[in-house]
Amino acid sequence: MYLSPVRDQGGAIRFFFASQMDVTERVEAQKIISDQKHLVEQEVERRTADLRRALEAKTILLHEVDHRVKNNLTMIGSLLRLQVRTIDDPVVASRLGSMLERVDALATVHRQLYQSHDITLFDLGTFAQSLAIDVVGASGRDDIRLRIDAQPLLVDAANASALGLILNEILTNAIKHGFADGRGGCLTLSVEREDGRGMIRICDDGPGLPAAKRTRSIGTALIARLASQANAEAEWTGNNPGTCVTITFPRSETT
Ligand SMILES: Nc1ncnc2c1ncn2[C@@H]1O[C@H](COP(=O)(O)OP(=O)(O)OP(=O)(O)O)[C@@H](O)[C@H]1O
Ligand SMILES: [Mg+2]
Repeated sequence: MYLSPVRDQGGAIRFFFASQMDVTERVEAQKIISDQKHLVEQEVERRTADLRRALEAKTILLHEVDHRVKNNLTMIGSLLRLQVRTIDDPVVASRLGSMLERVDALATVHRQLYQSHDITLFDLGTFAQSLAIDVVGASGRDDIRLRIDAQPLLVDAANASALGLILNEILTNAIKHGFADGRGGCLTLSVEREDGRGMIRICDDGPGLPAAKRTRSIGTALIARLASQANAEAEWTGNNPGTCVTITFPRSETT
């Protein structure tokens, strides 16, 4: 408040006008501040809407890319399928069949990626479940029971292809070696969370791992290479009877 230093008879009147001016200045200053605050709020709203639109455009673009990748992989799969039918040598046909399964698994990864709400995350738990159903279904074997204990488990979308391919190798091995020679049984898939990591275990009740593994295969080498790429670990253990393969990997969930 402004006090007039002049103390004469008119002092009270001058003091009254001085304090009136003081209040008017303050009211004006408050109006300026409130106008500026309103302007800043409007600008923040406008910028937020711009950023939201840019993010939506980027998401649509990435989904479009995943869609195209998936379509191209499906096309490669169809070409391989045509080629497999022309091959008489059962060994070559089987190798090509394995390649076909890998391409199909990658196509499934990209199909799930383009349908996903958050482009940065991939639900490996749900993927493992649908892949297990697909692999058992594609084997045409009705003597293999599938027991699934799965839950959604989010991982970084950048690791989706590597982890998806690892799961494909483990599942196809279980069908190919665990239930070889027409021997039926039970295939179990369990998805769990452990501290900051996720864990997926696939077990069969077949003959178990041989004392000496084949050396000219690419499945095991592929698992090792992809695991180091995705910061994952793969471990083979006995299932008494059969084989269990457990993979652990970083998960992207905060809960
Ligand atoms: N679930 C399993 N049960 C029994 N043996 C297995 C199992 N998984 C792997 N093996 C053994 O380990 C070997 C190596 O597996 P790997 O996946 O590297 O090769 P592959 O399946 O024979 O061929 P590829 O994967 O290259 O098509 C197999 O040949 C098989 O003998
Ligand atoms: Mg294999």
